[in-house]
Amino acid sequence: MVLFRKKELIGIDIGSTSIKLVQLRETKGGYELVKVGMASLPAEAIVDNALMDIAVIVGALRELTTGLKVKVKQAVCSLSGNSVIIRNISFPVMTFQELEEQINWEAEQYIPFDINDVNIDFHILGPDEVDPQKMNVILVASKKDIIRDYVTLFNDAGITLTVIDVDAFALQNAFELNYAPSADEVIALVNIGDATMNLNIVRNGESLFTRDIQWGGGQYTGKIRQKRAISADEAEKLKLSDSATDDESLREIILQCNESLALELYRSMDFYSANAGPGRITKLYVSGGCCKTPFLLDAIRERLNIPVEILDPFQTIICPENQFGSGYLKDIGPYVAVAVGLAMRRLGDK
Ligand SMILES: Nc1ncnc2c1ncn2[C@@H]1O[C@H](COP(=O)(O)OP(=O)(O)OP(=O)(O)O)[C@@H](O)[C@H]1O
Ligand SMILES: [Mg+2]
Repeated sequence: MVLFRKKELIGIDIGSTSIKLVQLRETKGGYELVKVGMASLPAEAIVDNALMDIAVIVGALRELTTGLKVKVKQAVCSLSGNSVIIRNISFPVMTFQELEEQINWEAEQYIPFDINDVNIDFHILGPDEVDPQKMNVILVASKKDIIRDYVTLFNDAGITLTVIDVDAFALQNAFELNYAPSADEVIALVNIGDATMNLNIVRNGESLFTRDIQWGGGQYTGKIRQKRAISADEAEKLKLSDSATDDESLREIILQCNESLALELYRSMDFYSANAGPGRITKLYVSGGCCKTPFLLDAIRERLNIPVEILDPFQTIICPENQFGSGYLKDIGPYVAVAVGLAMRRLGDK
């Protein structure tokens, strides 16, 4: 009954190179795809996760919502990279209310910013496996000035920003909607964008470790730009051209960057394992535009020595064939994994 349907939000993922939008409708036991689309942003609009040119981003967002005829006016977006700090922390067992009272004071020691400049959020995961006197908590701190920028941006685009999530957790939601690994399987998810790789190691619906690595498709573009002495937008175009890998010097840059990316990923996953992260990681699911880079998945497979697969965020979602061609969804899927996770959020959800 409509009265009891939780309010739909549109998921809007604002990335360094493009805005992604997804709207889902809840159905019996799942979701149906209502809208999906992307709008690209010029290279200078977002730099190092900071919104540099809000007017340009607002313009692109308005164009996207108008083009897709989006009617829902409330949205959820997400932060990543250096706009947000996530920590898995062990606390003595206490109630939600008790933790709420203490969290700001406790958080201070884990956050490299003035506590007055950040919003603190937390999520109790449950009892610690090793020490039953303790419980595991995820602490999320986001900078207030960045949140203000996002609220302004959405307001200017005529949308109310109702929830702010985190890329790594939205990615996890999209994964859990579509895949059902066994309870003891440890799985790594990585969303490889332009400026940032969001890594989230999960098991049985729980996030064991997250890290945002400042490395992504932008590194390839930067190298091409340097080598050819061209603008960022020209280098991006060159990188995405069909013939990129036919050009020997371009192919060389791509292969070198693939190696560096695989090594960055290896280092973070090795850090997890070396710090007694529970269980061996058995599989990696990748998403983000950069995962389409030629030969990248092979480089990652070789370096990590585990199966690597592209995450399909639409696997369990009903996608009416007359509105969304399967080729289009396959193509756009890797870009919108985070946006799908965001679109699963409902008003009033914690
Ligand atoms: N076919 C492709 N081959 C190689 N790289 C690609 C391809 N398609 C997209 N990319 C790269 O993927 C990146 C964009 O991916 P994505 O949209 O996930 O990032 P973003 O969300 O804009 O950035 P971020 O999340 O880091 O702020 C860009 O660097 C782009 O050049
Ligand atoms: Mg992104």
